[in-house]
Amino acid sequence: GRVAVIYGGNSAERAVSLNSGTAVLKALLVAGVNAFPLDLYGAEGDLNPVQQLQQEPIDRAFLILHGRGGEDGTIQGLLEMLQISYTGSRVAASALGMDKLRSKQVFVGAGLPTPPFRVLRTENDLLCAQELGFPLMIKPAHEGSSIGMHKVNNAVDLASAWTDACGYDQCVIAEKWITGAEFTVAILNDNALPAIRLETPNDFYDYEAKYQANDTRYLFDDTLSEEKATELLRLSEQAFQALGCKGWGRVDLMQDKAGQFYLLEVNTTPGMTDHSLVPMAAKQAGLSFEQLVVEILKEAQ
Ligand code: DAL
Ligand code: MG
Repeated sequence: GRVAVIYGGNSAERAVSLNSGTAVLKALLVAGVNAFPLDLYGAEGDLNPVQQLQQEPIDRAFLILHGRGGEDGTIQGLLEMLQISYTGSRVAASALGMDKLRSKQVFVGAGLPTPPFRVLRTENDLLCAQELGFPLMIKPAHEGSSIGMHKVNNAVDLASAWTDACGYDQCVIAEKWITGAEFTVAILNDNALPAIRLETPNDFYDYEAKYQANDTRYLFDDTLSEEKATELLRLSEQAFQALGCKGWGRVDLMQDKAGQFYLLEVNTTPGMTDHSLVPMAAKQAGLSFEQLVVEILKEAQ
């Protein structure tokens, strides 16, 4: 059957998705899969996504859209209705994964550690957020790739970061910054791959550090005891399960100086660019990029 690599989309992460999708398509073709590109909202002119999906027969979809409209359950629901099988999480888990606020509420409800946070609806909430203590991360609740995110150290910066983040989302949260180390754990076939520790000279692992910088360091751990390393992988799998995710994804976490881990979020359609983390983790586990995409596609149903 034919596999549509669905990429592009109209979110703020469109450019990232174009890179991810191009890499995935190429790898599928190398692996001998009968795949073709479907750039949602792309060159197809005036066609809407429903028309685009009905233009030619599709047996399976490899979803590599990032952000709202592509990673949030919307396209997943459309594919369900069109009875096209697709990769990754279903509707509800995709919607939860795209929503940092509700993800954190689920983590808290499941007894999983996540940094303390406040929802920023009004000016008054900015005062409540300060009770958490600086530094704070200000985040649009439904963005990806660190778009619209700010690390702030004082009340003045907090106010301007909030104003900026409101330009990306109706829901903005403040989250306590965890001083320590940042980790990411890729999930494949519902199991954790080796954890990666991230080091950046930037303020945090922002858009530039993610996609442009050549001084971001990706480390396969070096610093964790065997016990802590296992805890990190189990916690990541628990977060993935708590949101009801399926197949593949990537869990982002912090570790404080005392060794405690904190969940930041789960990405249900992580980046697959040449700077991206899931391919690095797969490689560490002995899987080539081609083997990785074939594995992801296998569980599409
Ligand atoms: N949101 C980006 C694509 C990622 O998580 O890799
Ligand atoms: Mg994300």
